[in-house]
This record gives sequence, C-alpha cells and structure tokens, in this order.
Amino acid sequence: MRIVLLGAPGAGKGTQCKYIVGKYDMLHLSSGDILRQHRAEGTELGKKAQSFMDSGKLVPDGIIVEMMIDRINKAPKIGFVLDGFPRTVNQAVELDKALVLSGKKLDIIVNLKVDEDVVLKRITGRRSCPKCGAVYHIVNLKPKVDGVCDRDGVKLIQRPDDTAEVVVSRLKTYYQQTVPVVDYYKAENNVCEIDANKDAEEVQETLFAELDVLVK
Ligand code: AP5
Repeated sequence: MRIVLLGAPGAGKGTQCKYIVGKYDMLHLSSGDILRQHRAEGTELGKKAQSFMDSGKLVPDGIIVEMMIDRINKAPKIGFVLDGFPRTVNQAVELDKALVLSGKKLDIIVNLKVDEDVVLKRITGRRSCPKCGAVYHIVNLKPKVDGVCDRDGVKLIQRPDDTAEVVVSRLKTYYQQTVPVVDYYKAENNVCEIDANKDAEEVQETLFAELDVLVK
C-alpha cells in the first residue's frame, strides 16, 4: 500500500502513522522528522530549513522535493506512508511525476480533518523526546514520569515551532498552501476524509477500517 496522510498541524498525522506501521508492513516517511534529523545533525540542508520551520513557513519546494523523492526511490520494496509531504500542489505534481517514472501509484490519500481549537490544544501540549523522537502530550498522552521519555529517560522538550504564535503562522500556511493539495487529489484519486477531532484510538479504528478494505 502507498498512502499519503494529509491534515493540519496537530491533526495527528505522526500519531496515526505509528499505528499504521505497527499493523501494516510499510515505511513511515515524515518530511518534518527528516528535516528535524538534518537539523540535529547540523547538515547544510538542516541549516537552510531552520528559519522556515521556526517561523511556521514551508521549506522551499526545491529542497523538499529532492529530499523526499530520494527517500521514496531508495525505500525498500514495501509500501510507504507519506506524512507531511506533499504539502503544496507543486510538490504533489512532482511526486506524481516521480511515481510514474518508477511505475508506482498511490493507493489512498487520507485527509485528517480537525478543528482549529483542537489543533491549538494538541500542539501547545505536545512534548517530544530529542533523542528517539517519541511524542507525548501533557494531557492526552502523558509519560510515566512527568517530563521524561518512557523509552530512554531523556528530558522531553517542546518543539520550537510548537508555541501558540508559531501555530497561528503554521495554520495560515496550511490553509493557503496545503488545502489546495486536497482538491488536487480529489480530482483524480481516492481521498478518504476522516474526523480527526476524536481521540486517537477512535481515529485509528476508522482509518484501519478504510485500509483493511484496500488490503483485501
Ligand atoms: P511537520 O513536522 O510535518 O509538522 P506538521 O505537519 O505541522 O504536523 P505536526 O507534526 O505538528 O502534527 P501531526 O499531525 O503529526 O500531529 P501529532 O501526531 O504529532 O513539519 C514541521 C515543519 O517542517 C513545517 O512547518 C515546515 O516548515 C517543514 N516542512 C515539513 N514538511 C514540509 C514540506 N513537505 N514542505 C515544506 N516544508 C515542510 O499530534 C500532535 C499532538 O496531539 C501530540 O502530542 C499527540 O500526542 C496529540 N494527539 C494526536 N492525535 C490525537 C488525538 N486524536 N486525540 C488527542 N490527542 C492527539
């Protein structure tokens, strides 16, 4: 299966992707996680992306398309779920071209729909582990010990772009540049819209029901 998972910041894309790869044999490719990895390693790409990410703007298409298509082409021959890419119509067009060249196609585009007030609470309450990338929430998904990662005991941090001010900018970017991607896919593909305001397990059940139909 080849899946694209769309949705506003905080819609739960990363959370649902972890459930998906836990059940189905596929690779999770998150453009945000890959960029954060570049930043942590201090690569040129990471340095170029930093100011865009911290202000809630999109990293330029040229950088992202090359980075993601390279990962997709090098991916093992199992399915993949794309999280955070494509995020502009231009990125979607470039992805389509690359898939045609490699004789692949997308099986489903999932759009996680979530209200703005929910986004704000989820993002400002999110805490992440700087070492393993595990994601928690101060209310919805607490670690066993307050402020500490369950897996490796490292102190949790708040992402620099998870402040209320930057979330407003990220949402604006989302409406202007990513909502048109949903319409782009609706013209040709199988777009499945899911109410992502519900709790994570309920969203997962609805999502798995859709994916199970494809697997059969
Ligand atoms: P990225 O990391 O992709 O951020 P995002 O799309 O804004 O998405 P988030 O990671 O904030 O949210 P999510 O939907 O994964 O939610 P999560 O599951 O963590 O991108 C960051 C930046 O990188 C961008 O702003 C841009 O600058 C750059 N970038 C990335 N891709 C790019 C691209 N293609 N082109 C250009 N630039 C790009 O959940 C959030 C919180 O809510 C967690 O605490 C979680 O525990 C909780 N939660 C999740 N689901 C639920 C639920 N159902 N109920 C209750 N709580 C929940």
